[in-house]
Amino acid sequence: MIEISNITKSFGSLQVLKGIDLHIDKGEVVSIVGPSGAGKTTLLQIIGTLDRPDTGRVIVDGIETTQLSSKQLSDFRNRHLGFVFQFHQLLPEFTAIENIMIPAYIAGTSQSKARQRAKELLEFMGLADRATHKPNELSGGEKQRVAVARALVNNPAVILADEPSGSLDTKNKAELHQLFFDLRNQFGQTFVIVTHDEQLASITDRTIHLKDGQICLPSETTTL
Ligand SMILES: Nc1ncnc2c1ncn2[C@@H]1O[C@H](COP(=O)(O)OP(=O)(O)OP(=O)(O)O)[C@@H](O)[C@H]1O
Ligand SMILES: [Mg+2]
Repeated sequence: MIEISNITKSFGSLQVLKGIDLHIDKGEVVSIVGPSGAGKTTLLQIIGTLDRPDTGRVIVDGIETTQLSSKQLSDFRNRHLGFVFQFHQLLPEFTAIENIMIPAYIAGTSQSKARQRAKELLEFMGLADRATHKPNELSGGEKQRVAVARALVNNPAVILADEPSGSLDTKNKAELHQLFFDLRNQFGQTFVIVTHDEQLASITDRTIHLKDGQICLPSETTTL
């Protein structure tokens, strides 16, 4: 599902990724851990085509994204990838259901189909009764679940999450983590999750340890 070979990336004189090779299967839930500054977000952004590597190849869902133009990339992201960030990044002036529908509109889905899909997702998340609330009327956990629903609306093959539970309390954290596995089990999505949360990392199918821009053995990283 995701095939990465020899990825390097520098910002000025700072080499952030020093040759990353990684293979992730369809339906795998993989966590990426490592100390602050290790290059986790940079790697996730490259997998998510939000940034380009200096060298190497990235293949996601059978498509070599490193070959695509900027226009092709935005279309690719919209159809194949879903993003969840630490802070929900919902649009404040739109309701929960409208926020979920927006990526579907961008993909050219009709309003009635987008609304139907958004409703199904809200139900799956246990948020049916919050559909017409705006983000400032939702709890932190609810906002984050709406953000997950938005990431799922176009039925992407891959969900990329950067510290998705970083701003949540213990109970909401546990619910969000369970949701990832429920989604994988029900819809077969592949998840790549950057996290500092040891509990989440411990329940994922596989944990990738990153340190100083390289994948290393668990024993070589002490801090998550
Ligand atoms: N756009 C950029 N320009 C310059 N330097 C950058 C840029 N993005 C990241 N960096 C640097 O690259 C290094 C890796 O950053 P990255 O965000 O990938 O780390 P991280 O592992 O996600 O850390 P954290 O756990 O703190 O989020 C850091 O030293 C950071 O300052
Ligand atoms: Mg980061």
